[in-house]
Amino acid sequence: MFNDANLRERAAKVVPGGMYGHLNAALHGPGYPQFFVGGEGCRQRDADGREYVDLMCSWGPIVIGHRHPAVEAAVAAQLAEGDCLNGPGPVYVELAELMVETIPQAEWVMFSKNGTDATTQALMIARAATGRTKVLMAHGSYHGADPWCTPSLSGTTPNERADLIEYTYNDLASAEAAAAQAEGDVAAIIVTPFKHDSFEDQELAAGEFARGLRALADRIGAALVIDDVRGGWRLDLGGSWETLGVRPDLYAFSKAMANGYPIAAVTGVDSLRGPAQTIYSTGSFWFNAAPMAAAKATIETLRDIGGVALMERAGTRLREGLAAQAASHGFVVNQTGPVQIPWLSFEGDATLEKAMFWSSACLREGVYLHPWHNWFLSAAHTDADIDRALQGTDAAYAKLRAAFGAD
Ligand SMILES: Cc1ncc(COP(=O)(O)O)c(C=O)c1O
Repeated sequence: MFNDANLRERAAKVVPGGMYGHLNAALHGPGYPQFFVGGEGCRQRDADGREYVDLMCSWGPIVIGHRHPAVEAAVAAQLAEGDCLNGPGPVYVELAELMVETIPQAEWVMFSKNGTDATTQALMIARAATGRTKVLMAHGSYHGADPWCTPSLSGTTPNERADLIEYTYNDLASAEAAAAQAEGDVAAIIVTPFKHDSFEDQELAAGEFARGLRALADRIGAALVIDDVRGGWRLDLGGSWETLGVRPDLYAFSKAMANGYPIAAVTGVDSLRGPAQTIYSTGSFWFNAAPMAAAKATIETLRDIGGVALMERAGTRLREGLAAQAASHGFVVNQTGPVQIPWLSFEGDATLEKAMFWSSACLREGVYLHPWHNWFLSAAHTDADIDRALQGTDAAYAKLRAAFGAD
């Protein structure tokens, strides 16, 4: 019989370090399980059989709840027909049509598997269109794990990042300065819909900044790329900067697009259709039909149930509950980002000592959230689920006060 401890032991012998990447539980805090065995709605079970109210949603992909019946039925039907064939199935066209219909900016769509595929593909299209090399990117922002963008430099060469010029998020003057530094050689400006760097309080994009980046891209003839891999399908089904009235030339989507099934997409404006056709961008599994069926069912369900509003409701309830609890236990906390992609930090907790203690205490109370990375809510979180989560966070605050004292 397996459990978390013996799975880790076995993994350590056959996988470098046992676990690599952002899901390595050793990075999350004391007591975090590494292995999970199942999920239903907004609950997830680990390999030791403990169940959690899931406030991470598998780091974003689960947007309408684990094993949502509409998605599972669409996948099962597609699998019964065939998934990996010599070419895509009709669902490829149906999904592209649905996305063009749902996203006002989108005049065409290209599919891939991961967020990194989509951001990389978007930059290739921008370079193919402009014949230029440089990309302006916000300092500290995450766009994936390829050598050009991975946060750790191990295994990369300076050349692979030589074409990036950094600006500061929400600081238009810094973006203008970065463009000037490129001396006319900017292919793209890439930006996330809000600032969601790990370890830091999140920052919503100022309207003036978003409009300013759009105008800057137009002025210098570069493509504006919104990396909506994290925000996409939670803030606005039409693309996250619809909320600000700003449309990019290219959107990159993945994570929540298919409620956990692997798929990503770039959507673009008509003027980039030709350049998009010229790039060689493909993969063995990029045209599998089952994830496309999952994406179609997910987007339709989000649209039909008013998924964004449901997540906003759950997120507002969580934020208000956490704020009241922090005040009653005597802690000063910062809650930042959109309510449906929330994060909480403790004031003056630069070493994350309190965050690590509190999140581990939440875990023991049956609430899965994260000490240094934003959380994700889904449309499956009901008021009762949020209240259940709040019971756990309240008990965790009490333990934190007993260990650290109030602020
Ligand atoms: C904004 C953003 N871009 C790109 C990526 C990379 O996506 P993936 O891990 O699917 O390659 C992520 C993943 O967290 C992300 O948050």
